[in-house]
Amino acid sequence: MSRTVYVNGEYLPEEDAKISIFDRGFLMADGVYEVTSVLDGKLVDFDGHVKRLARSLNELGMGEPLTADELLEIHRKLVAENEVINGGVYLQITRGAPADRDFAFPPEDTPQTVVLFTQNKPDLAESPAAARGIKVISIEDIRWGRRDIKTVQLLYPSMGKMMAKAAGCDDAWMVEDGAVTEGTSNNAYIIKDGKIITRQLSNDILHGITRAAVLEFAREAQMKVEERPFTIEEAQQADEAFITSATTFVTPVVEIDGVTVGAGEPGPAAKRLRELYIEGSRAAAV
Ligand code: PDD
Repeated sequence: MSRTVYVNGEYLPEEDAKISIFDRGFLMADGVYEVTSVLDGKLVDFDGHVKRLARSLNELGMGEPLTADELLEIHRKLVAENEVINGGVYLQITRGAPADRDFAFPPEDTPQTVVLFTQNKPDLAESPAAARGIKVISIEDIRWGRRDIKTVQLLYPSMGKMMAKAAGCDDAWMVEDGAVTEGTSNNAYIIKDGKIITRQLSNDILHGITRAAVLEFAREAQMKVEERPFTIEEAQQADEAFITSATTFVTPVVEIDGVTVGAGEPGPAAKRLRELYIEGSRAAAV
């Protein structure tokens, strides 16, 4: 069934949606994006995603083409039109389409390109990967230095997923200067002696919206949290490990570079955090 998508103010069947070949998102990866999950037809952590979008745009010197209220209306309309119960909304904003290819930014009055579409994921909350736990490999982090900006430069993360797949695993954790930065499309955590350890926020990682919510739920549940870098060796010796993102929520990691983590199955703390996050998100979804 064809989806209804949003392109620059219009709601269109996906096959009729078009953007220019000169779009800077296409030519230069000059664009930012957000992925907001939908649970029971409602948007999860919407405010957080909209705030981060504004920050990403601002850091790249791009304007905000739509207000938070307008973005909410578009998200809701697409979810309703496409009858999304569980899934997500993808949003991308680029610096627009100037008349030709040029490294220099186009004039400030060049209209930005705004695209949104929905994705259906019926088993979002009951994902088999979360039930069984995922296996990760480690790869070098060779991305640029502004990973806090959610840009559409996703080639290396895509390659990382393919490297993981080739190794019979589900995902890759990226390592820089001996410490884990994050997963290809998620934040990375370990648990040792009851303490949740995850890298502190900086330009080295994306400031995950799910991360912020999960750490808040963890602190509310009196779990200890330490924000600092950790190595692959420390992770392999941890009691538990897990990832978070808008699309995976909290998903346990049971193997790292071929070494079993803890009991080799999803651990109690990661399971509890997943429950807390899904419960809390459902209640707060808009
Ligand atoms: N990825 N780190 C990276 C590199 C990411 O791409 C993502 C999200 C996260 C987690 O952020 P959040 O909790 O706000 O989703 C961390 C999205 C889901 C994606 O690219 O599809």
